[in-house]
Formats: sequence, structure tokens, C-alpha cells
Amino acid sequence: MALRKIHKSGDPALAKKAKQVNKFDSRLAQLIGDMKETIKDANGVGLAAPQLGILKRVIVIDAGEETGVIELINPEITDCEGLQAYYEGCLSYPGYYGDVGRPQSLTVRAYDGNGAEVAYRATGLYAVACCHESDHLNGEMFMKKVKGSLYTLEEVKELREKEKLAKDAIAAKNTGAERQNGGGTSEGFMRRIEV
Ligand code: NI
Repeated sequence: MALRKIHKSGDPALAKKAKQVNKFDSRLAQLIGDMKETIKDANGVGLAAPQLGILKRVIVIDAGEETGVIELINPEITDCEGLQAYYEGCLSYPGYYGDVGRPQSLTVRAYDGNGAEVAYRATGLYAVACCHESDHLNGEMFMKKVKGSLYTLEEVKELREKEKLAKDAIAAKNTGAERQNGGGTSEGFMRRIEV
């Protein structure tokens, strides 16, 4: 496994539609391994293959302690419920955060690295991450979908204090760790469900 460079906004690969994966081979396994190492190193929540210049429908999500870092191949989002305000950010557009308006919860259906069907129910931060990373596979960057302004992390912290969006404990958890997301109402969960 190896760390790979995360391409930044303006790189042409980030604006292209990624292709379906149909070979679950050692090359794919290598890519998944590298993505997992790279997301851990960057302390991110999600990463999509186009961010590494690879136009394949592969994303990884650090789904928290319980679930760990998972790969989702050819992901499809279904069963969206609710709407949440969340100041999300992107490893390809560091330093800026904005509210896109994502579902509060959703189901993501995909394949794992071995080609087995998997499904997860995701809420809060993890629902945001599933949407954000799926958008990358379609060449869409979050800042073009933001409702209202883009903010710096400092501004997001101020806004959240003003809006009293989160209780102190949750705020400390979300903003204390320098993850890619600016924080929101709740961290949520991502759990495997029956296919
Ligand atoms: Ni991103």
C-alpha cells in the first residue's frame, strides 16, 4: 500500500464522470488499499478515486470506530430521508466549508473489494459523506452546490456558536479533530444492513 497524492480543485479529473468497475482484481485491491491509507493520513471522512486521478467508481468512507474504513464500489444511494444543514468540506478544496443540504439519512448499496454486494444505512455526517463522495464520481464538487456562502473553518465555528447548532460535547468532537468536515448537528452513524 502507498499514499497517493490528492488532486486539488482545478484538476481535470475532478470534473469527469468516473466509470463503473467491473473487474474485481488485484489492481482494484491495490487502489482500495492506497485509498484507505491516504484517507487515514489526510484525516478525512471520505475519499473518491477521481481525487487521486483515477476515473473509477470507487469511494472509501471512514465510517467511525464501529464500522471502520470501508470501500464502496459502484455505489448507489437510495431511501433518502429528511434534510440536514451541515458545513461540509473537501480534501480537494481545503479550508472551505459550506452547506449543500443533504439527506439526514440514506441507504447506500454497493460492492465491496471482492465483488460482494453490500448495503449500509448512514445518518448525519456519514450520510453527507456518502452524497459528497458519490458526487465526485459524477465530476461534481460540493462548492458548486453550496446554498449560500462558503466559509473558512473559523467562520464555521463562529456560525455554529451563534446558531447553537450543537451541544458543546458534539462541537468539540467535530471541530477538535481536523477532519474534512466543518461539523454539524450530529456525527450520526454508518452501519451495515442486509443487502
Ligand atoms: Ni471531496
